[in-house]
Amino acid sequence: MKTIRDFNIQDKKVLIRCDFNVPMQDGKIIDDTRIKGAMETIQYAISHQAKVILLSHLGKVKEESDKEGKTLAPVAKRLEQLLQQKVIFVDACVGKKVEDAVNQLKAKEILLLENTRFEDLDGKKESGNDPSLAQFWASLGDVFINDAFGTMHRAHASNVGISKLLPSGIGFLVEKEIERLHTVFCPKKPFIVILGGAKVKDKIGVIEKFAPKCDRILIGGGMAFPFLEAEGYFMGSSMKEEDSLDFCKKMLKKYKDKIILPVDLAVSKEWKDGSPAYKDITKLEIDDMGLDIGPQTIQIFKNQLQDAKTVLWNGPMGAYELSSYQKGTQELLTYLASKKEQIRTIIGGGDTVACAMKNHLEKELYHLSTGGGATLNYLESETLVGLKAVEQSNANH
Ligand code: 3PG
Repeated sequence: MKTIRDFNIQDKKVLIRCDFNVPMQDGKIIDDTRIKGAMETIQYAISHQAKVILLSHLGKVKEESDKEGKTLAPVAKRLEQLLQQKVIFVDACVGKKVEDAVNQLKAKEILLLENTRFEDLDGKKESGNDPSLAQFWASLGDVFINDAFGTMHRAHASNVGISKLLPSGIGFLVEKEIERLHTVFCPKKPFIVILGGAKVKDKIGVIEKFAPKCDRILIGGGMAFPFLEAEGYFMGSSMKEEDSLDFCKKMLKKYKDKIILPVDLAVSKEWKDGSPAYKDITKLEIDDMGLDIGPQTIQIFKNQLQDAKTVLWNGPMGAYELSSYQKGTQELLTYLASKKEQIRTIIGGGDTVACAMKNHLEKELYHLSTGGGATLNYLESETLVGLKAVEQSNANH
């Protein structure tokens, strides 16, 4: 697979697709991790005298009013601070204004176009991978670099569409994601998978793929309830997922010795912060809602992780939105971080990554993926539609 290193980009117009889909509140960026993640590729392009044109989406844009708060203007400002250089921002992503800005661009200058999903208002052209939109964007550059790992599972005009038309490669962020995530396809053993988060349904592919290969699967979070119900336990008012019960039963039968479920839970009568009550899984009452794994489970999970060499983790162990119920996730993350010389821990999925960052553990864990859906997709299929498009472009150019 070609990377940005494989192109002579001096004085060339290099289109870089980034994932600047950052969380915003009242027009302010509340987490700039993804912007920082794009720095290496952008800096490389500038230091190799390229004319840099950045493209990204931000959120979903379904109607005109969605545009409010979805402009990339604050991202341009943040980029300027991080790069310590001017970033030209055009408040459009198609049309003459864009063409003029590109034509005036000099080597080492950076131009950021407006949110690509603004083009979804015109018949879903971006998300529908409209060929004329891809053609317009491709006409702006000489080379296309896809560095937006988070959207590589989507066939949109601003990634797959452009790759079809221009010589393409991947950026450093995507290269690192693939290299690190690849660890779990030939893992050092014992290999333990930790799964949490809300839904079993979202993880069926990952469970089916890794259950035969891993040594153990530790299940927490909302996902644990249908598994526990399938085992015959009463889960009170905890999150329900009736349509996954059969799958859980099947998995429990097939991988009886590998699947480790909670033995106790932090419960509450309401979905809100407070002092958690801890209960054995056999003792839940009708209005008890499981919101985190309990202390005994944390200990059991730590014991299971003790000799691990590779850990793949997706999804928090509790209701991560509520600070009183982050303990299970935090304690396991801290435990894994304390064993960083022994364990390669790969974390895919937004909330678990956010928890690791909040606890300043990012340097202590082998890999924190920037993707959510893209990571799950890559783990399941070992490729992504955006990667295939780059490979295809390499074959064509
Ligand atoms: C993400 O946040 O996972 C990516 O930026 C993709 O966003 P999307 O789910 O809106 O395509």
